[in-house]
Amino acid sequence: MNWYLGSCRPNKRDLFLKQLEFEIDKNQLGGLFLEPISPRDAMYKDLVLLQISDLPSARIHLKKIEQFHSYRTKGFIRTSSQTIFRQVNLRTGFYMLTQSDLILVAGATGGVGQLVAAKLLEKNLSVRILTRNRSQAEQMFDNQVDPSTSLRVNTERSRGVDIVVGDLRYPDTLTSATKDVTHIICCTGTTAFPSRRWDFTNFFNPKNTPQAVDGEGVKNLILATPSNLKRFVFVSSCGVLRKDSFPFNLLNAFGVLDAKLDSENILKSSGLPYTIIRPGRLIDGPYTSYDLNTLLRAKTDGKKAVVIGTGDTLNGETSRIDVANVCVECLNYDITINQALDLINSGTRPELIDWQKLFQEFS
Ligand SMILES: NC(=O)c1ccc[n+]([C@@H]2O[C@H](COP(=O)([O-])OP(=O)(O)OC[C@H]3O[C@@H](n4cnc5c(N)ncnc54)[C@H](OP(=O)(O)O)[C@@H]3O)[C@@H](O)[C@H]2O)c1
Repeated sequence: MNWYLGSCRPNKRDLFLKQLEFEIDKNQLGGLFLEPISPRDAMYKDLVLLQISDLPSARIHLKKIEQFHSYRTKGFIRTSSQTIFRQVNLRTGFYMLTQSDLILVAGATGGVGQLVAAKLLEKNLSVRILTRNRSQAEQMFDNQVDPSTSLRVNTERSRGVDIVVGDLRYPDTLTSATKDVTHIICCTGTTAFPSRRWDFTNFFNPKNTPQAVDGEGVKNLILATPSNLKRFVFVSSCGVLRKDSFPFNLLNAFGVLDAKLDSENILKSSGLPYTIIRPGRLIDGPYTSYDLNTLLRAKTDGKKAVVIGTGDTLNGETSRIDVANVCVECLNYDITINQALDLINSGTRPELIDWQKLFQEFS
């Protein structure tokens, strides 16, 4: 199976894709054309990446579609999927994430989670939110909510937010949240020290503690995850391997780092492709205006550079915006699979972040 980069007539890509879908349905060409991928960058709005099993047969059908431009002009790039993805990733704004992916964001009403969901939506990807509070999520993601709430498949899946109500502490509530998802980004958490977020219905027996959420809860989510998941991203914390030294011994007074480390270990032994992110003390946000447009305007202007390390050796502050950036960007790079990344902000921030270079530095 090869990937081919084709060009459509100017501003006709959407029509071309619809027409192609029609051809595929009518002539049962599912085995010939696999999903088309469109670069998100406006600069490449007339290009489409197609996975094709047999080019001569595919040509016959492509020629019938008026909106498809002669491939002689821009040509097809015939190459292996790895190479093409690397090329398009770097040069044309294609992403390894495709529009048939469905990404579950757990904790999407939280500081990091809301930015993660906003970034995915900005890339026109299908997002599902696991939340305990539907009305808050509806308010936050406003008109991006998928009105049907029931999922449609592949290319028919609507881009937008599918809200599923669930609670990490109750495994039964997670089954529908994880059904058919291709990626999970888990940004859930509670406070490290006792607070009303621990849910003190019974003063002596709080219900939403680090042990319950960051420990058992994340474990429940891992257990509910489909085995063919492409990636499980888990937002952990710096200090998990330094729990006995200051200041992490204080941070861990109520067991938050113990719980995070337990979940890291369960994820590592789950067999799922994972990326663990260990930020320092979080800054920026949570944004209190629950409005997607406000979230997308949350910029890193004037912020420090992104520093990535391994082995839980970094100390410092981390912008929630960059935690969200790394949660999403890492999905585009295989080198981040089965890695635990420390993440802080330090030094001068370049105008544009070269994620591949950053991720390569630690691999
Ligand atoms: N704060 C720091 O300095 C720091 C440092 C390192 C790492 N971290 C980690 O970074 C991540 C993001 O932090 P943040 O401050 O942005 O998060 P946050 O604002 O506290 O958001 C936490 C999210 O978790 C959800 N949640 C809590 N209990 C849940 C449960 N039982 N079931 C399902 N969802 C539940 C919350 O939903 P509800 O709205 O329903 O409560 C909320 O969406 C967390 O994992 C945190 O532990 C934080």
